[in-house]
Amino acid sequence: MAKLSVIGTGYLGLTHAACMASLGHDVIAFDIDTDKIASISKGQVPFHEPGLPALLEQAIASGRLTFTTSWQEVADQADVHFICVGTPQSAYSEAADLSQVRGAVQSLAPLLTRPSLVVGKSTVPVGTAQWIADTLAAESPAGLDTHLVWNPEFLREGFAVEDTLHPDRIVLGVSHESDVETLKDVYATPLGEGTPLIVSDYPTAELVKVAANAFLATKISFINAFADLCDVTGANVTTLADAIGYDTRIGRRFLNAGIGFGGGCLPKDIRALQARAGELGVAEQFDFLRAADDINLSRRTKVVEIAKAALGGSLDGKKVAVLGAAFKPDSDDIRDSPALSIAGALHEHGAQVTVHDPEALPGVRTRYPHLATAESVNEAVANADIVLHLTEWQEYRAIDPQALRTLVNNPIIIDGRNVLDLDTWINAGWAITYLGKPGS
Ligand code: UDX
Repeated sequence: MAKLSVIGTGYLGLTHAACMASLGHDVIAFDIDTDKIASISKGQVPFHEPGLPALLEQAIASGRLTFTTSWQEVADQADVHFICVGTPQSAYSEAADLSQVRGAVQSLAPLLTRPSLVVGKSTVPVGTAQWIADTLAAESPAGLDTHLVWNPEFLREGFAVEDTLHPDRIVLGVSHESDVETLKDVYATPLGEGTPLIVSDYPTAELVKVAANAFLATKISFINAFADLCDVTGANVTTLADAIGYDTRIGRRFLNAGIGFGGGCLPKDIRALQARAGELGVAEQFDFLRAADDINLSRRTKVVEIAKAALGGSLDGKKVAVLGAAFKPDSDDIRDSPALSIAGALHEHGAQVTVHDPEALPGVRTRYPHLATAESVNEAVANADIVLHLTEWQEYRAIDPQALRTLVNNPIIIDGRNVLDLDTWINAGWAITYLGKPGS
């Protein structure tokens, strides 16, 4: 069995490395960040991901997972190299910043002296795989014996281990049919469970990932557009979503209206797709993604306006408790978090904002030092003029509204995720506002 390397130890790479080791593979994981590698080697996962710490510990203890910051060790020890580095939004445009991908390929290629397989998993603009294949052929001593497979990753934060071990599908973009067999060995366990395998060319494999994320983002913005229509007509967007969701062609998932999508993937992926479509001369066909992005961002201003109106037209000096900072529950990821975007805007309007989150506060303190934080819900809501429920952690659904009412200045809550039970909150004396469904 070939030894694997995993390049990049972020959400994708570290999860992939630990999962591959748990499937019985020998894995060497690489990162350029020496501090990160030092702490991960001790079993410390640098982010919140359920199930990953235990898996990492087992993988290290088994001896099947080792770590390095040396490209030479990666090239010497492994034959199959998974590229799992980040492709964030560029600081200068809406396109993806491919510097980490380019850096990885250009560092590794000159060291590949024997036939090897490079497997791209990062989310990239279509056309990147061909550039990597050409670079490997030109710059690695093994030349044309260095092959590339494009194998997009579909993991969701919070379910990363589950999604890696039991994926919905495995997609392989190949230029040599023989490489499929190597990847079939790597993924023998999920394939044995019946996971569908789709083999394609490079551009199709690259597009599968961006198409999936564009579809999901559009689905969320679609229901959020209807939430606004529900608000002006008195209709209920949750009932609407339930009803259309019974149509299996539509499906109920990703039709939860609220403050919309954030995180390290959907927002930047739809922007990168528009940028790439523009470069390829099909910009207009992807204008709908601009609309999806705009609808999504308008959720944030809408919540600020609702809060302002609820407090008599001014936020200045008002105490606002924000429940939730992560972009979604079961994650400490605050990248492009709708909750923090709203918290930041409220602060700019002069409100005294206190943020609570079960996992994300360390990141909030570093990145949003101007926002006050509280270690408990009770502390966050003390004397609040308004409470905003913005990330639907399970913990918040268990809140006793009766007890909470005794702590606040005004019993007013905006449920930005449409999940708190209307009757329970009203009966406890609260005024509750949702996005797209009648509140009190
Ligand atoms: C996403 C894709 O789901 C995953 O397949 C891909 O590999 C990476 O990007 P992730 O970013 O982990 O995963 O989050 P996801 O669960 O998709 O949620 C994205 C955002 O949409 C969150 O902010 C979430 O709160 C929001 N969302 C999701 C909604 O607002 N409504 C919904 O119905 C579903």
